[in-house]
Amino acid sequence: MTRILITGSLGQIGTELTQQLRSKYGKENVIASDIRKNDGDDGPYHILNVLDKEGFSSLIKEQEIDWLIHNASVLSATGEKNPHLAMDVNIRGFENAIELARLNNLRILTPSSIAAFGPSTPQENTPDFTTMRPTTIYGVSKVYLELLGEYYNHKWGVDFRSLRYPGIISSEAPPGGGTTDYAIAIFHDALKQMRYTSFLNADATLPMMYMPDCLKGTIQLLEAEEEKLTQRTYNIAGISFNPAELASSIKKHLPDFEISYEPDYRQEIAGTWPKSLDDSNARRDWNWLPDFDLDKLVTDMLENLSNTLEITYK
Ligand SMILES: NC(=O)c1ccc[n+]([C@@H]2O[C@H](COP(=O)([O-])OP(=O)(O)OC[C@H]3O[C@@H](n4cnc5c(N)ncnc54)[C@H](O)[C@@H]3O)[C@@H](O)[C@H]2O)c1
Repeated sequence: MTRILITGSLGQIGTELTQQLRSKYGKENVIASDIRKNDGDDGPYHILNVLDKEGFSSLIKEQEIDWLIHNASVLSATGEKNPHLAMDVNIRGFENAIELARLNNLRILTPSSIAAFGPSTPQENTPDFTTMRPTTIYGVSKVYLELLGEYYNHKWGVDFRSLRYPGIISSEAPPGGGTTDYAIAIFHDALKQMRYTSFLNADATLPMMYMPDCLKGTIQLLEAEEEKLTQRTYNIAGISFNPAELASSIKKHLPDFEISYEPDYRQEIAGTWPKSLDDSNARRDWNWLPDFDLDKLVTDMLENLSNTLEITYK
């Protein structure tokens, strides 16, 4: 049975990815890890700082790991507040992960992001291969990660795989300090107080994705036969929308909902990212296809979140 280690497993994506992989590969075969204490008790968990290379190496050996999902990261908005922390975790942490993948012959999947693109990238239908000059430290760390992973693949045959996630929306774990977090906070505030103040402009269109699609795409790429991969880093797209469009879809369920706009430094970051992605290579190579459009996402989010928050809205 395949043994999987996930770093950063208590994060927004790691929390749900761990659950899905456990239901597929067995609880005991999916080892979760993060730098923080875990209050849950639903399967094997180890505290691991990815900067502690020896501890990282021992965990891989002791647990006889085959696949490493390296999710530990400092996200875009937090990274701009603390660039040196982002350099340590995202760059040094990834160097440890990819080197340990080489030494232990692991398949390694590490997410990249739309933040790897920058203001000189074509913003509509952005392809996999294009100009990449990001202006955030988070974006710089993602370009480095993609290139270093690809280098390890050319040089030593390491089975490195990466996806450029758009902004991920979920009703479960809270977001970790990204520029697209508005699209989660808006649902909480809509249900709790019928109003939301957006830190992005009304027309700040960005590529976004609902968590079930993110998990589906991640597991599809993780499991894809290596011969089918014609490249190592893939765009995956869900839907593109802006705060005004999201608000009007929410209004179909909550007619009294109101949105206002007070853009802050995160608008500057968002302005440098693509508006939509071309993910045709992922569709061709490993059958990627998202399930959720905007209205389906909004209906599902409101239903799940209202259950969690115990708020009746219908
Ligand atoms: N959530 C999104 O919208 C989004 C979009 C694009 C890309 N991504 C990428 O997906 C991956 C997972 O993102 P997420 O949303 O779950 O992030 P998150 O911020 O919610 O989680 C990251 C986790 O990493 C952990 N961590 C931080 N420093 C660490 C260290 N030194 N050692 C070990 N763990 C450490 C944190 O405790 C946290 O639980 C990241 O690579 C991120 O860049 C996420």
